[in-house]
Amino acid sequence: MRTSLLAFATVALAARPFLNEPDTGIEDVLGSTPNGVLPALESIVGLPDFEWAARHKMNTSAYTYYRNGAAGEWSYRNNLEVFQRFRLRPRVMVDITKIESTLPTTILGHNFSAPFFISPCARAGYAHEGGEENLVKGAAAGNILYMASLYSSKTMDEITAAKGNNSAQVLFQQVYLTDNDTETQALFSRIEKAGSKAIVMTVDSAADGNRHRAARYGVGSADSSYSYLTWDYYHKLSKMTSLPIIPKGIQTVEDARLAVQNGVKAIMLSNHGGRQLDTTPSSLEVALEIHNRDPDIFKQVEVYADGGVRYGADVLKLLSLGVRAVGVGRPFMFSNVFGAEGVEKAVKILKHEVAIDAANLGVADLKKIGPNYVDWRSTNAWFS
Ligand SMILES: Cc1cc2nc3c(=O)[nH]c(=O)nc-3n(C[C@H](O)[C@H](O)[C@H](O)COP(=O)(O)O)c2cc1C
Ligand SMILES: *[C@@H]1O[C@H](CO)[C@@H](O)[C@H](O)[C@H]1NC(C)=O
Ligand SMILES: *[C@@H]1O[C@H](CO)[C@@H](O)[C@H](O)[C@H]1NC(C)=O
Ligand SMILES: *[C@@H]1O[C@H](CO)[C@@H](O)[C@H](O)[C@H]1NC(C)=O
Repeated sequence: MRTSLLAFATVALAARPFLNEPDTGIEDVLGSTPNGVLPALESIVGLPDFEWAARHKMNTSAYTYYRNGAAGEWSYRNNLEVFQRFRLRPRVMVDITKIESTLPTTILGHNFSAPFFISPCARAGYAHEGGEENLVKGAAAGNILYMASLYSSKTMDEITAAKGNNSAQVLFQQVYLTDNDTETQALFSRIEKAGSKAIVMTVDSAADGNRHRAARYGVGSADSSYSYLTWDYYHKLSKMTSLPIIPKGIQTVEDARLAVQNGVKAIMLSNHGGRQLDTTPSSLEVALEIHNRDPDIFKQVEVYADGGVRYGADVLKLLSLGVRAVGVGRPFMFSNVFGAEGVEKAVKILKHEVAIDAANLGVADLKKIGPNYVDWRSTNAWFS
């Protein structure tokens, strides 16, 4: 009996293998595209398509640097799969005709056209020679926030200059810090001078990420020291800049609470796209933990979240728990194989999906979405 059940389970699992990009027919239409050649941008219909295009265009080591997750990549896969484990609860007969006008939001008081942003990702130059400049331009065209990575292909000055005559464009700057206060002070001063409006301090990378896939091509973790980062040190850092410092990589309700107690204005839930410590939870699971155990946190500070967001409905699930804005990493990096136009198209696609998915969910005003739009009983267990 036991054996046959096991055999059945194996067959059932084999019937639904993990797919990096779910099969929505792209092979049927673009399958004959030769390696090294980009399909027409018009043929891209969703965010996962950008990865398909990038994988065909980029060389294997550059693609692998973007695609990589830590160790067995369980967190990487879970980030993508977690959204389908929670069913939506659509309401009908609701006047949703004004939904598009409710997408704009503020992030730390700055106006943007949508509640999602470009998460900080290193080495945009691997996809396109324009590198981060394209991400700045694409974000400007779509009027969304771009958080630039410290380990960018372009210099901070080049990234700032890409704002062009749109110098009012708001950028945030991500940092990794050394334990050398002189260097940190110099970095903070450069960031202020560049006009960034916030410092996003990555706290989920105390040590190197364990990156098997990337190590095969020598494109693994960039930092090889253990970082000294504590809440005491955070207070010292806060005195070194007038900019808000947002911790990125909060993964428990305890640390979210500690961040609030230590006076942060915002936190970012993230497991670094599953690239750092394998079997860490997705930000949706962390948001759910906060919702269940200390929901006031969503009112006390702005909460952002990223990891595995690929569709409008993914954004809605995070917003429904009280997340203010949602970050997207890899899809924007992959969209950059088409240059700034690709980035702009990725923004358009996601904005449209958020609006139509919200409408089909019966949400009249995106600001009023709440946890009742989702059935939070997971349809199956962790990693099944
Ligand atoms: C190629 C790549 C480089 C990244 N570099 C950084 C970085 O320099 N700093 C950082 O805090 N996070 C970095 N991240 C993590 C992203 O900020 C973000 O948390 C993650 O990509 C979100 O998951 P997603 O790619 O599934 O959207 C990187 C992610 C990728 C894919
Ligand atoms: C942001 O939008 C609000 C409401 O539309 C407006 O009153 C405010 O002036 C805007 N702020 C900036 C900096 O543009
Ligand atoms: C792959 O592409 C990247 C980005 O263009 C380049 O830096 C790298 O040298 C290339 N690697 C190989 C092995 O061709
Ligand atoms: C800190 O960095 C500065 C500037 O790079 C350097 O001059 C100094 O020696 C460093 N201090 C330590 C303790 O490493």
